[in-house]
Amino acid sequence: MPGYNEQALKKASEYRESSSQLILGIESSCDETAAAVLRGREVLGTAVHTQIPVHRLYGGVVPEIASRSHTERIGSVVREALDNAGVTLDDISAVAVTYRPGLIGALLVGVSYAKGLAYAKGLPLVGVDHITGHIAANYITYPDLEPPFMCIVASGGHSHIVRVDSYTDFTLIGRTRDDAAGEAFDKVARAMGLPYPGGPELEKLALGGDPGAYPLRTAFNEGESYDFSFSGLKTAVVNILHNAEQKGESVNKADLAASFQRAVTDALAVKSVRAARESGLTTLALAGGVSANTCLRERLQRECDRYGIRFCRPDMKYCTDNAAMVACQGHYEIMARKPDELSLDPNAASFLQAQQ
Ligand code: KG4
Ligand code: ZN
Repeated sequence: MPGYNEQALKKASEYRESSSQLILGIESSCDETAAAVLRGREVLGTAVHTQIPVHRLYGGVVPEIASRSHTERIGSVVREALDNAGVTLDDISAVAVTYRPGLIGALLVGVSYAKGLAYAKGLPLVGVDHITGHIAANYITYPDLEPPFMCIVASGGHSHIVRVDSYTDFTLIGRTRDDAAGEAFDKVARAMGLPYPGGPELEKLALGGDPGAYPLRTAFNEGESYDFSFSGLKTAVVNILHNAEQKGESVNKADLAASFQRAVTDALAVKSVRAARESGLTTLALAGGVSANTCLRERLQRECDRYGIRFCRPDMKYCTDNAAMVACQGHYEIMARKPDELSLDPNAASFLQAQQ
């Protein structure tokens, strides 16, 4: 009887030869337990269990609570994704799992579960970097999208400009020097008394505000570098709130939220479009949780239209953490390389960090 490695290699080469094979994706890097079944870029079924209501009580993600919740939910979430796809585990040909970056205890749950499934069923296992998963969410939305293209990744932990050279080759062009874009949204929202996660709440508040009311700009984001800095902007907003509080004055929070949002989205849009133009690329994609921000989507669309660049952004349901994006990137990984061994370890850092 062949051992696991032999069986997994054989299944991986069968996977590459037939376009009808199904891949199961698993995501547990932060506060969403998610699973999805894909055939290539086609999503057959998904399931997500969000932990947001629990973490909201503490104003942010509590790592130990996240790990426990993933452990409790992962089995039922995988079953739900299979049911939604109308398939069983026997129909699955490969397993993809987020193995970096993220909360180590949370990653460990998904990675251990995926290893168990792969071993029990003799299936190839592929570890996916969460950032590349976010980028792959665009392939689901645009069936014709192919590398090379430039991508602006804005999430809770990252603000990266990444050149996508091929489905599995990435070059880091720019990054955040301090707070990530989503992190800045969350911290500013918190200072305004909004619940976690602050990004979507701040966007709602900004809807009724005047983005020109506060002259919030950062010199750094207007420089030549492709890197970002959002912590000065965050501090400026916090200072406006504190000064008003000390003087007993009221602040128009909608105006302040709208002004902050405009400063962040301007920086992300102008730098990423410049990076695309200066690299001679004609497509710019948006990825990561902040890609759900309508102001950012519209700002990028306008900036791209100005320079004749094609703009891609994921469908709303694939912007924040999900497993369809992990399965989609996993599909391209398995097409391009050998599957991972069962010794695959989770890692708190993205491989892109090594390029910094
Ligand atoms: O990608 P994601 O779901 O998790 C990480 O990989 O970090 O991103 C979550 C981040 C949070 O900071 C959240 O506030 C932000 O994305 N976010 C938004 C919006 N929706 C989610 N930020 C601004 N506007 C939104 N609509
Ligand atoms: Zn994410």
